[in-house]
Amino acid sequence: MAVLRTAVDVRGETYRANRAAQLAVLDQLNEQLELAIAGGGERYQRRHRDRGRLLVRERIELLLDRDSPFLELSSLAAWGTEFTVGASIVSGIGVVSGVECVVIGHDPTVRGGAMNPYSLRKTLRALEIARVNRLPVINLVESGGADLPTQADLFVPAGRIFHELTELSAMAIPTVALVFGNSTAGGAYVPGMCDYAVLVDTQAKVFLGGPPLVRMATGEDADDEALGGARMHSRVSGLSDHFAVDECDAIRIGREIISRINWRKLGRPPAPNPEPPRYDPDEILGIISSDVKVPFDPREILARVVDGSEFDEYKSLYGSSLVTGWASVHGHPVGILANHRGVLFSEEAKKASEFILLANQTDTPLVFLQNTTGYMVGTSYEQGGIIKDGAKMINAVTNSAVPHLTINMASSFGAGNYGMSGRAYDPRLMFSWPGAKLAVMGAAQLAGVLSIVGRASAASQGRPFDEEADAKRTAAIEAQIEAESHAFFVTARLYDDGIIDPRDTREVLGMSLSAVHSNTITGRRGFGVFRM
Ligand code: COA
Repeated sequence: MAVLRTAVDVRGETYRANRAAQLAVLDQLNEQLELAIAGGGERYQRRHRDRGRLLVRERIELLLDRDSPFLELSSLAAWGTEFTVGASIVSGIGVVSGVECVVIGHDPTVRGGAMNPYSLRKTLRALEIARVNRLPVINLVESGGADLPTQADLFVPAGRIFHELTELSAMAIPTVALVFGNSTAGGAYVPGMCDYAVLVDTQAKVFLGGPPLVRMATGEDADDEALGGARMHSRVSGLSDHFAVDECDAIRIGREIISRINWRKLGRPPAPNPEPPRYDPDEILGIISSDVKVPFDPREILARVVDGSEFDEYKSLYGSSLVTGWASVHGHPVGILANHRGVLFSEEAKKASEFILLANQTDTPLVFLQNTTGYMVGTSYEQGGIIKDGAKMINAVTNSAVPHLTINMASSFGAGNYGMSGRAYDPRLMFSWPGAKLAVMGAAQLAGVLSIVGRASAASQGRPFDEEADAKRTAAIEAQIEAESHAFFVTARLYDDGIIDPRDTREVLGMSLSAVHSNTITGRRGFGVFRM
């Protein structure tokens, strides 16, 4: 296979400026990650520890195999909203007793672990990842249930959590609940719905209604241990399968349960001993343009991501704004589609469609590296059928049945987001680099479009056009769209599965590919009708 060569000048001014810009956004990212890790803050963490309890990340660390990595998802969920960064949930993919599992842990230091609309989205996405990739689920439960002031946005869709857990069970994907604390009302259905429930003595409280509610409903003066304690559920109701004497015991039992599920991955194992890339992944920071409008060659990124920097390029001379080709990442074969010069023309769209079909014929997962301003506009392109060609690509992406992994490297605008397997096209996992932007179009273009439309509207009604007011409105809209295009804003709303350090791209893709191989990998052989 051809080995990629590099033209990057690591001593050049551009490289240095790019690297400095990336390090600055990575600092901002780390600041926000610190906030997510701090959860409810020092006061609530101290109170939690004083009660002899472990923090959610400590629980996860003890649960995972020693020194194994954890692919944390949506760490910045709820960023920029009224809720705590991270949305009172930690979720991710990690290895437990040798099995890749989805872990969902409540953070009880944030409003008693109560679930707000962002925690709900994060939980549902984690359960979806478990379902589509066939990964066992371990819930680390300690939550005050619904965030009561936001119940209107929560109550109806939250029912889906129990639906998903039941569906997983029906698909023979094991579900485990380790209950460390409160699991009240709707939350009681988590241990209720899981295949395995482990309750921690004196801490676990699992009931449909706590003592105050019972008093209100029936007048009974109930004791919380008798109503929902671990001893009662282990000896009397039978809801608990395992009685744990403390938190470590519950984690030990959880690991033992997973070790006995007789789990076999259905996908092909990776090739042994994959070669690392021939160039240093650290150099990726100097390759990403600090100016989103300046394109960079994705082959320079691939040279620092794929095994042995080997890349078998497909149709290299045709539709050159999109780079397509075959490679391996950590021993897993992949097809790669990577934007080069931003705009997708008819040639790129047709090339992508063919390439996606080929990957489906050979059951090869696809990696989409986005840096696109969307499909080309203009009279000659419309006359050349850009809509039909874009539709072919979107058809191919939609009906492709091999796993898609998508990374927004720098920009994801317009229908380019759809054609390059954005969120609405069900990538199995999707990440962004911290400087990436995502929106229907660039902020300046969007503000300019609105200004032109306003001017035309005034002219058609014979109204005078207030230039000063328009300039103010245009600036305000541009600032709004700029803020909404920011990677933190996008990830906060769960439009991806998290922001990653660009230098970790190979490791994140490797872990993601390993996870998707828990399920069978079978491409689609028959496609829908293409508009030729
Ligand atoms: N919705 C919104 N906020 C909640 C909440 C909920 N369901 N549960 C707790 N909080 C808030 C509390 O108001 C408190 O806020 P404050 O510190 O600003 O005053 C903070 O979270 C911590 O709660 P606190 O009760 O001090 O923590 P705790 O660890 O002693 O107890 C619970 C935790 C979950 C046992 C207890 O808060 C509780 O019973 N909550 C209500 C549970 C419930 O009935 N939920 C209904 C589910 S449908």
